[in-house]
Amino acid sequence: MFEMGLRFGDGLPMDQSAQLDELLTCRLDGGRKVVEPCSIVIFGASGDLAARKLVPALYHLCRQKQMPPDFRVFGVARRDKTDASWRAELRSALGQFTRTQPVDDRVWQEFSEHLCYCQGDLTAAATYEALERRLASFGGGPLRHNLLFYLAVSPSQFSAVVEQIHHAGLLRKDGAEGWQRVVVEKPFGHDLHSARQLNRELTRFTHEQQVFRIDHYLGKETVQNIMMFRFSNAIFERLWNRESVDHFQITVSEKPGVGGRGGYYEEAGALRDMVQNHLLQVLSLVAMEPPVSLQAESIRDEKVKLLKSIRPMSPEAVARQVVRGQYAAGMVDGQARPGYRQEPKVNPDSNVETYVALRLLIDNWRWSGVPFYLRTGKNLPLSTSEVRVQFRPTPNVLFAAQCGPRLDPNALTLRLQPNEGISLRFNGKVPGTSTAVRPVRMHFSYDAEFGAYTPEAYERLLLEAMAGDATLFIRRDEVEAAWEIVDGIRQGWEGKPLSGREFYAAGTWGPAAAEDLLAQNGHLWREPLVVP
Ligand code: BG6
Repeated sequence: MFEMGLRFGDGLPMDQSAQLDELLTCRLDGGRKVVEPCSIVIFGASGDLAARKLVPALYHLCRQKQMPPDFRVFGVARRDKTDASWRAELRSALGQFTRTQPVDDRVWQEFSEHLCYCQGDLTAAATYEALERRLASFGGGPLRHNLLFYLAVSPSQFSAVVEQIHHAGLLRKDGAEGWQRVVVEKPFGHDLHSARQLNRELTRFTHEQQVFRIDHYLGKETVQNIMMFRFSNAIFERLWNRESVDHFQITVSEKPGVGGRGGYYEEAGALRDMVQNHLLQVLSLVAMEPPVSLQAESIRDEKVKLLKSIRPMSPEAVARQVVRGQYAAGMVDGQARPGYRQEPKVNPDSNVETYVALRLLIDNWRWSGVPFYLRTGKNLPLSTSEVRVQFRPTPNVLFAAQCGPRLDPNALTLRLQPNEGISLRFNGKVPGTSTAVRPVRMHFSYDAEFGAYTPEAYERLLLEAMAGDATLFIRRDEVEAAWEIVDGIRQGWEGKPLSGREFYAAGTWGPAAAEDLLAQNGHLWREPLVVP
C-alpha cells in the first residue's frame, strides 16, 4: 500500500496543516482506492436523485464489493418515513432504475440493512441534532466522524444546510476527527456573482478541499478516457494541435424535450444547464495541456488554464459566434411533440433557449486559430454525445483528376454515449479498376472490447468522494471561470427576444442559423455517428 498525498493547507498553523494533509490523503492499495468506514448522509432523500441515481449507485458499489467494510447511508428529508418504509420504497425504485436487472436480493438485503431514515425539516436545528444523536449511537468511531454529506436539495438550501451541519458539530474545518466532505449538486449558482457568493458561504464552514462539486459527465467512463486516450497514445497526441487539427465539433444532443422540468428550465436554459458545466468540462479535457501528474490539483490546474484561455466575447462577438434556438412543435420518431412554449410551467412568451451552438476560440500556443464548435439541444433527432476532431485536408494533388477536388478530411470521433467508443475516418480505394475513393471507418467499441461493463457516473463519483479524490469534481476557480464565459454570452443576449430564425421544429438539428455559424468558415456540422 502506498499513499498519494495531496499538499494543501498553505497558511495554516503546522499542526492543522498536518491534520488537513491526513484529511485530504487519498490512499491506494494496489491501484484501488482505499475507502474507510464512513456514513453518507443524503439531504433531500425523498427526491428523485436519491431514488434514481444515488441509492442504485451505492447498491452497485456494494455488489462489486467496493463499499468500505462498514458504512451507513442516512436519508434526511421532511416526509414522514421509518427506516423500513424508506427501504421498501428504495427497493421498488431500484427494480426500475438499476442498470443490472434483476436486482440481486441477497445483495440488496445486506445493503439495505445499512440504510437509515431521519425525518426532519432541513431548516430546523433539531433535525441536525437528531442526526448527530443517531450517528453518535454507533460509538465515537469512523461512522460518526467520517461523513460524506450529499446535498441533493435545491441550490437555495446549500449554504443553510452546511451551516446547520456545522453548528450540530458534524462538520469540522480543522480535520481534528475523521474527515467530513460536502458533495454539491449542480446548478452551482446561476451566474458568476451567485457562484462566488455560494463559494464564499460554503467555505465559511469548510475548506475548499472538503467541497466536491458534481458534474456527472466527469463520472462517465468515456469522459475519463479522454485523458487516457490523449496522453497514452503518441500517434494521436502528436496531431493534437493547430498544425493538424482543422476544428472540433462537440455535440451533446438530446431527443427528449424538457418534459416535466419546465419550471427549472425557465430559470436555466440550455446555456446554464449544459454548456456551463458538461460541454465546457468535455472541452477542457479535450484541449488542456498535459498535467504534470495525475494528482487532482495538477489536472484541475490545467483545466482552469484552458478555460481561462478561451477568448472572451463582446456582445458583437456573441452575435457572430453564438446561436440560440428554441424548439417549436414537431415530430420525433413519428410522435408529435409540443413546442417549448406549450410545455407545462413554461411562459407562453418564453425566450429561454433550448438549443445553443457556439464557436469558441482558444488563445494559446496549441490552439491558436482552431475553432471549437459546441452544440447542445433538446428535442433533437438523436440522443448522443461525441467529440469530433476534424483534421486538416490533404494537399490533394495526387487524386484530384480522378476523385474530385476535395477529399473528405480525416476525422477522429470520441463517442461518449451511447455506443461508447472511438472511430477513425480515413479515405480508402474502392476496390476495382477505376481510381475511386471513399471514406471508411475503423471503430473501437467498449462493449466489444471490455464487455458490458458500463458503470453509472454516480457510482464512480460516490466512490471517489468517499475516497477523498477530488479529480473528478469541479474546483472553485473552475466553476467561476466557466461562469465568466457563460455570463459574457448572456450579456450579449440581454433584452433580445428570439427571432423567427431562432426557432426549430422538434425533431430537427436546431435552427438554420447553426448551419450558418459553421458555413462562415467553410465548415459543416456532421451528423453524430451511430455505430450499430
Ligand atoms: C443534466 C441536465 O445535467 O444533464 C439535463 O440538467 C440533461 O437537462 C442531462 O438532460 C444529460 O445528462 P446525460 O448523462 O443523460 O447526457
